[in-house]
Amino acid sequence: MEEMISITIEDRNGTRQVIEVPDGISLSLMEVLKASEYNILATCGGMALCATCHVQVLEGLDGLPPATDAELDMLDTLPDADNDSRLACQLKIHTDMQHAVFRIRGAEE
Ligand code: FES
Repeated sequence: MEEMISITIEDRNGTRQVIEVPDGISLSLMEVLKASEYNILATCGGMALCATCHVQVLEGLDGLPPATDAELDMLDTLPDADNDSRLACQLKIHTDMQHAVFRIRGAEE
């Protein structure tokens, strides 16, 4: 049976919700957030070019694959980015996300 990946999303107003995603669906965290009705602009469609899918990793940062140069360059343009910032479009849903906690930070629509 496919493993379910359980991630916690904290909205801009601090509300937390657990989302269960099947492993191997080949979606990015950004796509899952949009599918879950979160208000994420993702203007560039996942190309690491707009930074509106900015999330802060509150728990589980160490388990995630490292950011690429393109992601780091884009995060550098954000005044409110920190060491625990990532672009949700560059994070593929994977078991390494199990029990991670993400806070939505990107610009709203
Ligand atoms: S959707 Fe544009 S950087 Fe992630």
